[in-house]
Amino acid sequence: MNAPAPKTIYLKDYQVPDYLIDTTDLNVDIHDGYTLVSCMLALRRNPAAKQAATELTLQGADLELVSLSLDGRLLEEGDYTFGEESLTIFNTPETFTLITITKIKPESNTSLEGLYRSRTMYCTQCEAEGFRKITYYLDRPDVMSEFTTKVIADKKYPVLLSNGNLIEQGDAGEERHYAIWHDPFKKPAYLFALVAGDLAHIEDSFSTSSGRAVTLRIFVEPKDLDKCDHAMASLKHAMRWDEEVYGREYDLDIFMIVAVDDFNMGAMENKGLNIFNTSCVLAKPETTTDVGFQRVEGVVAHEYFHNWSGNRVTCRDWFQLSLKEGFTVYRDSEFSADMGSRTVKRVEDVTLLRTLQFAEDAGPMAHPIRPESYIEISNFYTMTVYEKGAEVIRMLANLLGKENFRKGTDLYFDRHDGQAVTTEDFVTALADASGRDLSQFKRWYSQAGTPRLDVTDYYDEDAQTYSLTIKQSCPPTPECQNKLPFHIPIAMGLLGSAGDLPLYLQGSQPDFETSDNTHRVLELTDAEQTFVFERVQEKPVPSLLRGFSAPVKLNYAYSTRDLILLMSRDSDGFSRWEASQQLGLQAISAAMAAYQQERSLDGFSLSAQLVDAYRRVLQDASLDQAMVAYMLTLPSEAYISELADVIDVEAIHYSRQAVRKALANALADDFTRIYQSYDHRQPYAATADAIATRSLKNVALAYLMLIHDEGSIRACEQQYRHGNNMTDVMAALTQLVNSEAPLAQEYSLAALADFFGRWQHESLVVNQWLSVQAGCQLPDTLSRVRALLQHSAYDGKNPNKIRSLIGAFCNGNAINFHSGNGEGYAFLADQIIQLNRQNPQIASRLLTPLTKWKKYDHVRQQLMKAQLERIRAEPELSKDVFEVVSKSLA
Ligand code: TRP
Ligand code: ZN
Repeated sequence: MNAPAPKTIYLKDYQVPDYLIDTTDLNVDIHDGYTLVSCMLALRRNPAAKQAATELTLQGADLELVSLSLDGRLLEEGDYTFGEESLTIFNTPETFTLITITKIKPESNTSLEGLYRSRTMYCTQCEAEGFRKITYYLDRPDVMSEFTTKVIADKKYPVLLSNGNLIEQGDAGEERHYAIWHDPFKKPAYLFALVAGDLAHIEDSFSTSSGRAVTLRIFVEPKDLDKCDHAMASLKHAMRWDEEVYGREYDLDIFMIVAVDDFNMGAMENKGLNIFNTSCVLAKPETTTDVGFQRVEGVVAHEYFHNWSGNRVTCRDWFQLSLKEGFTVYRDSEFSADMGSRTVKRVEDVTLLRTLQFAEDAGPMAHPIRPESYIEISNFYTMTVYEKGAEVIRMLANLLGKENFRKGTDLYFDRHDGQAVTTEDFVTALADASGRDLSQFKRWYSQAGTPRLDVTDYYDEDAQTYSLTIKQSCPPTPECQNKLPFHIPIAMGLLGSAGDLPLYLQGSQPDFETSDNTHRVLELTDAEQTFVFERVQEKPVPSLLRGFSAPVKLNYAYSTRDLILLMSRDSDGFSRWEASQQLGLQAISAAMAAYQQERSLDGFSLSAQLVDAYRRVLQDASLDQAMVAYMLTLPSEAYISELADVIDVEAIHYSRQAVRKALANALADDFTRIYQSYDHRQPYAATADAIATRSLKNVALAYLMLIHDEGSIRACEQQYRHGNNMTDVMAALTQLVNSEAPLAQEYSLAALADFFGRWQHESLVVNQWLSVQAGCQLPDTLSRVRALLQHSAYDGKNPNKIRSLIGAFCNGNAINFHSGNGEGYAFLADQIIQLNRQNPQIASRLLTPLTKWKKYDHVRQQLMKAQLERIRAEPELSKDVFEVVSKSLA
């Protein structure tokens, strides 16, 4: 018999807490091997509770209770009782003081939730429910308390940090010392943080718009002190941006970031003391790629922005997670757009959404951005809550317009400062401030699945009218079979032979005021609607969903000619890119059809008109180089798979490869010109322009490497050896590793050995070395991955290492992971079984590729399912893994 299934928590069961905690006084006494936590709570019955409670249930996990006293009286057996993960105290009065003393073992905490040790330091991770692993508490976000924290430790940990302001420090006898921190802002326990370690820091300062000085510090292990400047610059940009764009100022005298190497996610917004995965804070050109630099900028901003969207105004319960995450992702995305190129950032966000989020929304774990139930909340830090959540905020911002959206967010922050609220409260504030009716729009919060738009059109030459008929539908998802129509903003324009046409939409005024009347947003609210444009003098090509104005799948039967027109002429940069992707998909589909008939693609070639169109993109001097690079990058295997009904792993892989090779051959001269005109001696800069030129040059290199000529292979090897920055070095190494050409293979072995020799002491660089090998598309990669698991560079307890090796193989290497004999699936299951007890959050996340089993052919389905069943049969499954496995098999 298995243990009883863990219980499901429902949104509809929400009740206010019985007690409130006015103040929390913590005393955290760190010793080698154990830590004593004394916690004093000032409790008071919640006046808003339906009934006056006479008992108090606190959450706690993996705690050893040393003592418990109520208003100074030591409690005994009979005064309290233990539940599975709780402690209930009987006969509790109206108000009282509770002191608990518990003993914990951070050194053996491998889950990386609560207080744990990472390399040389102690640190915490409390979101979502990690605080209960530190002490007994009302561990829920609507219980907000004023925290005072005393940290005591050996002086070999000179830096002792917690939230808020440092109010006292001093000696604590025999080589020990203490620090007391006080956070004046009430906060839920999930925002608590503590750090003790031998850390170095860089310091800067920021003067807020109202003239207050804020000290900024970034703490790292001393070896990493040379990699903090980019994060500090990003932080200052983010602070200024939030003042300018949202009128939000920082509110404490100090803001701190600590970099930690063992971390389950990217970073955490603890009040005044953000804790970061080293991968999201450390950066320097020699060790970090352009993508890495951009990630640091984005994540630093994201966590900083949480100070308002998340901390000052927090969530009532975890079903409201998107209240802070969707909004904050939207904020950080707009910030990055303002720091770099807006269109490029949009393309990157949409790419992520359409591959990973759409796939999630079509699978067994599909949920609305405000889920209705969960077993383990850690499983709901998802692409849907974050990325689709951000898209929903983006639609609101666009529907309201800049001014009204700002009025709405001002009202939201004003009205709810210091409160724990719901997504409903957020939308209400926007509706109140703008006067817009958002009642139908709210369905985006409660209905899962990706809506599908089917668009047909009709041009009436005599009447000079053009009609667009748009039908919306949404596939059933686990919790909802029949969906009500969504409110969908569709940004659009009409292209004539000479460019954008003026728009005269029947029943509405032309818009010459805010634009030149060639662009507008159609609001689709019915299951089917027809929009009629007048005074249309030629049959237009519709440019639909400009800027990806809604997270939907749009179907319109574009001809190749239409797409080429859109790609070269649309006034919306996003649409031009989108047309390039549709063209790529058409070419890949043609190759797939050929492959599925013959299982061979020898002699596959592209039409002259397609090649010409891509050539014009390469030669278009008006385009941002980053856009050229993205337009020349074919849709990923993951995106093609998402679009397929049944994923044919080999057909997708080999067809995409064939189209790439055909493009490489047809455009070799242009790629050579681009590659050779790049000056590899220029000093590195992480500016948008420099990143753009580098990425186009590296796209050109990738194509040239498909031709297998000796010149390109030698150039690639030169770039590996002499590259003055990690972007170029990695780009070259990736090409060498993935090339079938014997000369490239020879170089790649030498380069991999050289790379490890050079960087073995830089953990984050070693991670890239693991990933490039795990991502190798050539045969036999799984044995290489298995061997790397035994390599001294690997550490099976470190999430970054796990993601770089196992994650990269299972998520980024379909042709090998989905190998027909099922060995990839068995390999992943082995890893998950091992991680299940050690680190349930990571184990559960690694499961994702197996959850998609229903999308594959019958043989693969059986193989994947067998591994899921094997995992399900394991004794002592964590809640995290149990939830994902059981929902996948349901
Ligand atoms: N709130 C964090 C963010 O999005 C993410 C987060 C949630 C997290 N749970 C975590 C980070 C656990 C680390 C570990 O910014
Ligand atoms: Zn966040």
